[in-house]
Amino acid sequence: MTDDDTELEARLEEQEAFEPPESFVEQANVTDEGIYEAFAENWPGCWERAADLLEWDESYDEVLDESEAPFYEWFVDGKLNASHNCIDRHVEAGRGDEVAIEWVGEPGETRTYTYDGLREEVEAFAAGLRDLGVEADDVVTLYLPMIPELPIAMLACARIGAPHSAVFAGFSADALATRMTSADSEYLVTCDGYYRRGEALDHLAKANEGLESVDHGVSEVVVVDRLGADADTTAGGDQRDFGELVDEHAGASVEPVPRDAEDMLFLMYTSGTTGQPKGVKHTTGGYLAYAAWTSRAVLDIEAEDTYWCAADIGWITGHSYIVYGPLALGTTTLLYEGTPDHPERDRMWEIVADNEVDIFYTAPTAIRAFMKWGEEYPERHDLSSLRLLGTVGEPINPRAWKWYYRHIGSEECPIVDTWWQTETGGMMITTLPGVNTMKPGSAGPPLPGIDARVVDVGGTEVEAGRAGYLTIDRPWPGMLRTLYRNDDRFVSEYWAEYSDTGSDDPDDWIYFPEDGAKLDEDGYITILGRVDDVINVAGHRLGTMEIESAIVGTEGVAEAAVVGGDHEVKGEAVFAYVITEEAADGDEALREEIVANVEDAIGPIARPEEVVFTPELPKTRSGKIMRRLLEDIASGEELGDTSTLRNPEVVEKIQGSVGER
Ligand code: PRX
Repeated sequence: MTDDDTELEARLEEQEAFEPPESFVEQANVTDEGIYEAFAENWPGCWERAADLLEWDESYDEVLDESEAPFYEWFVDGKLNASHNCIDRHVEAGRGDEVAIEWVGEPGETRTYTYDGLREEVEAFAAGLRDLGVEADDVVTLYLPMIPELPIAMLACARIGAPHSAVFAGFSADALATRMTSADSEYLVTCDGYYRRGEALDHLAKANEGLESVDHGVSEVVVVDRLGADADTTAGGDQRDFGELVDEHAGASVEPVPRDAEDMLFLMYTSGTTGQPKGVKHTTGGYLAYAAWTSRAVLDIEAEDTYWCAADIGWITGHSYIVYGPLALGTTTLLYEGTPDHPERDRMWEIVADNEVDIFYTAPTAIRAFMKWGEEYPERHDLSSLRLLGTVGEPINPRAWKWYYRHIGSEECPIVDTWWQTETGGMMITTLPGVNTMKPGSAGPPLPGIDARVVDVGGTEVEAGRAGYLTIDRPWPGMLRTLYRNDDRFVSEYWAEYSDTGSDDPDDWIYFPEDGAKLDEDGYITILGRVDDVINVAGHRLGTMEIESAIVGTEGVAEAAVVGGDHEVKGEAVFAYVITEEAADGDEALREEIVANVEDAIGPIARPEEVVFTPELPKTRSGKIMRRLLEDIASGEELGDTSTLRNPEVVEKIQGSVGER
């Protein structure tokens, strides 16, 4: 480092607030500070601004119907189609030859879909789906990696009014089966495999294994041929080839089916406190309007941009901010199949430079990995096309924020740290990049129209500077409508904590996201993390109960407790404390079996970083496991209060076992 660099580093380290760069503000989509007040004064009518970003087949009669709170309805009686909004209207506006999707495969090949080309593919696949018997309201499961056929299948489903349920390709066969069974989904679109760090992964074998455990009959399976000759498993029996199905229906015209604003656009399973994943239901009108609005206001997307969100479409981030939001705005959305370190650690920056990417959105885990690898990798490439940077999924530490700001954004790009959830459908708390000062580590104020607060256990707002619980006190268009076929769980999971659940007054209903938070004197919210039994590993949300039940299913295991411990790159990592049965040895073989069982039940993302065998778990006198203590041990922190334990001596023993590993 030169002296200048050292000086700059020192200055950045001290700096706690950053103003949006002038050059950015001059061109930003939203620059008027008055937008917060304008939304507050005209709520819920302000949300017409979001609805106006879409084309409606029939306009809505009412912005919000609160009469059945918390079962809110948005844009009541409006009709629209998501596929039309993401494709056809751009073609009709004369933009058919502009690029919709730019795909980069890991081995290096690329595919470009113009809006015209995307429409052809989507129509052909939609016709194919119909031919297979898919009708409006049938749930189609998509178990696909980052290949263009995934957004094509999503948009084809949307076109014919069939909700999709995407299952992250990294999830295991069991996880696929659970989700298909829970959604009663009779259709699956999957692929033979995909590339990861140069290796061809067999995906179809996993899909087939999952299909065997689906409780009901699966009518049709469509398989994308991604790997050609590199595939270990290829479509067999009655399974249909995606490419052939599309070819058979080439040139088909499939009119987008007008859907009610409240009709389900998709289901997305996510982890909660119990072992059963929750099927979050998102709708066509409110969700799409909210995804488009936040893409425009926060990500500053314009039709002419090349925009890259490096998340996976199998998660909500990819749904809202790779597919629906960006395409609704008619931009170019970039998809990359592989890992950031293949063939070298500069892959992301090479893609940014080659495609002149304007906007880049990723997770803090990725940024921490880039930071660890060193700035020489981004320095190899010209990143001057970048205008805005974003982060999502987990808290970002100020050091990583500043590294991103300096080494990727050259101090010329604002960073939006966006807090939201699968359930919220879109961003909720973040700065508006053309308006607000940025404070590294703090997500920012709630977006205009979003009524987020930080309260104590009793629901009273805490003073600035104090920690409390985050609540959202008014509905918003992108919100989940319910948990699929489980209205009771929807109410008990999200509303019971702070609402008067017997009340008919919509003002008494308060959404609880189960995050801890802190408010500062400027109204900025810093997210402190989950307060339920959910851990956030590398920005992926995992339920400790799901992992525990996989561990307890291992022969020789009597009891297990899983917690998140601090991890330098992943933010949190899975720590498993395991009590063996009397006859069993807590040895390396058992440890391996436990890890394998977790990978089988959920996927490699849930792999425990540490498996600690212990004779006992720290418990309160009432028999409840003291998770906080286990978290402190995992993170190597000073232990909290142990005086309420029934068995305080066990803590030292566990610390000893962690130390040995
Ligand atoms: O704890 C919060 C954390 O991720 C959780 C939501 O996870 P998921 O539904 O998988 O959605 C992730 C992508 C939107 C939240 O409850 N989280 C998300 N964004 C942030 C965050 N924590 C801190 N800062 C963020 N920007």
